[in-house]
Amino acid sequence: MGRVKQVLRPEDIESIELGLINKCVLDCRLCLRQESITDNLEKDVAINIKDLFIFMDQLPNLKQVDLVGSISEPTLHKQFYDIIKYIKGRGLNIRLSTNGNTFSLRWWENLGKLMDEHDIVRFAVDGSTQEIHSKYRVNGKLSKVLDCHTAFKKTSKSITVLQNILFIYNIDDQENIRELFMKENFDICEFTHTGGFDFEGTPSLIDDNILPVKDLLSNYNKLTANNKYDMNLDCNAFLGKYIYLNHLGCVLPCDDMEETTFRDVDDNITIYNNTVDELFKHVNSIISKRSFCKTCVECCGQMHHDIREEYPIMQYNRRGESAALYKFREVIPL
Ligand SMILES: C[S@@+](CC[C@H](N)C(=O)[O-])C[C@H]1O[C@@H](n2cnc3c(N)ncnc32)[C@H](O)[C@@H]1O
Ligand code: SF4
Ligand code: SF4
Repeated sequence: MGRVKQVLRPEDIESIELGLINKCVLDCRLCLRQESITDNLEKDVAINIKDLFIFMDQLPNLKQVDLVGSISEPTLHKQFYDIIKYIKGRGLNIRLSTNGNTFSLRWWENLGKLMDEHDIVRFAVDGSTQEIHSKYRVNGKLSKVLDCHTAFKKTSKSITVLQNILFIYNIDDQENIRELFMKENFDICEFTHTGGFDFEGTPSLIDDNILPVKDLLSNYNKLTANNKYDMNLDCNAFLGKYIYLNHLGCVLPCDDMEETTFRDVDDNITIYNNTVDELFKHVNSIISKRSFCKTCVECCGQMHHDIREEYPIMQYNRRGESAALYKFREVIPL
């Protein structure tokens, strides 16, 4: 039997991820912001919310909005509250990932009032002490993250996640993290392995052990050696009925495709200059291909599934129950 042709229409879309802005207050060691491909981007470009809402109005079956992105801190968008109000006004669920290093405690209390129990917010911690936290989250302040979370939680019923990315340098910190989790008022403690990393490592990353844990790296090498690249893969965006909209106004199947919009910015197909039909034609030109690119193979190919099965997302709730999770952005029962 032939494969189903992978095509998305506006009415198919159930989730959208938004990369709202091109700005951050931290310099995390493996963030895409560190790559030279982002150097030619103008600083402080933010999505225009009028055009954003016009575009989103044309997605009638949306259920969820992920406020994440690959090169920015979403809360820094100047009209962040307006964006949240629009999303909640449509009854959609929010998945927000934040470095929690922004704004006053009052700002976080006010944000808490706008979000509800259907929403999930991840606060990036990555270390139980200031020293461990800022080794990856350069310029980050652990006490600030915890205070912003407490302020948010004071006024919000949203589910909050203490998020940790595992590297060699913090692999032995997990017990301390779980103690910190119990001390603070988070609902879920989450551990994921670093992804999209530089397997060689630069000298400074090697010096600081900002590297995937050893067995992950050797297993990856084994899997790469054994796996034939499957170019006939299923696209996660198609299967999950989602799209990604970045700060330049470009619509893509996923944030892994974001770099393609950084090269010739003036040639981009955007919500500012193009119709919805043209935007979806562009998305479909990527996902309906018979042969996918290297990024697709890495993000959605068999090797990715094998790695994720061996190194899943681990979550703990406050009752001490734990489970391995396959789906990013969700949580186990509280
Ligand atoms: C680029 S960030 C944007 C959102 C926000 N600025 C933040 O850091 O939470 C998107 C997601 O990637 C995660 N992330 C950062 N470095 C990572 C790494 N090396 N491996 C896996 N995820 C990473 C962040 O924690 C966040 O959940
Ligand atoms: S906080 Fe998020 S966007 Fe900012 S540098 Fe770190 S990973 Fe990148
Ligand atoms: S990486 Fe490629 S295959 Fe995977 S979701 Fe994105 S476009 Fe689809």
